[in-house]
Amino acid sequence: MRTPIIAGNWKMHKNVGEAVEMVRMLDERVADSPVEVVICAPFTSLSALSALGLGKVKLGAQNMFYADQGAYTGEISASMLEDVGCEYVILGHSERREIFKEDDELINKKVLKALEANLKPILCVGETLAQRKAGETETVVVAQTTQGLAGVSADQIEKVVVAYEPIWAIGTGETSNGDDANQVIASIRQTIGKLFGSELAEKVRIQYGGSVKPSNINEFMGQPEIDGALVGGASLKVEDFVGIIKY
Ligand code: PGA
Repeated sequence: MRTPIIAGNWKMHKNVGEAVEMVRMLDERVADSPVEVVICAPFTSLSALSALGLGKVKLGAQNMFYADQGAYTGEISASMLEDVGCEYVILGHSERREIFKEDDELINKKVLKALEANLKPILCVGETLAQRKAGETETVVVAQTTQGLAGVSADQIEKVVVAYEPIWAIGTGETSNGDDANQVIASIRQTIGKLFGSELAEKVRIQYGGSVKPSNINEFMGQPEIDGALVGGASLKVEDFVGIIKY
């Protein structure tokens, strides 16, 4: 059985004080949840959150660079994230791909470095609206999954979480329906099965993301292939995020 994982992606929201206030409350409210709970906060809040000595909530970052150290102005390394108490890191989010022009090759280097540093990557994949309309959804997500996971070893694959986020559903209020998302996620799992064998593929957790809210979480969590959610907007308020975690 795969343990469900619900992660909040705060994006560029909350200063340190706001972050601490919310995560302190969240940690109490979800203390007895059987679900793995992760908050991916901006870099600036991570050490303060780690210093809270959280019980249930785990910490993640939203990006990192693949080099160990050096002249990379503005970048953060995997070991720096480890050092401030991160267990997870989101990689290849569509906003990184679109706004910051990250491609599969770069994202793959980050995935490999994260794993080497003992961080668990949340690898995001997903199609644009134009690709969906052209019937290319599966081709796109299969390619992103294959390229993102190139060079990952069989011992490492269980640590990877994949997030299927159709780009047209992010922050738009539009969601994929449960059946559609389940079908795409099944094809991601098949792809992992081809690369690593079906036994290992059954252990990898695959989330749905894109306008997940308390009112639609059950539709997704009721699907056999969906193991959790990556939540943007609705992870910013305690009530909403607790409502999702307690689906
Ligand atoms: P959303 O964002 O829940 O606000 O649609 C999801 C994401 O970008 O991870």
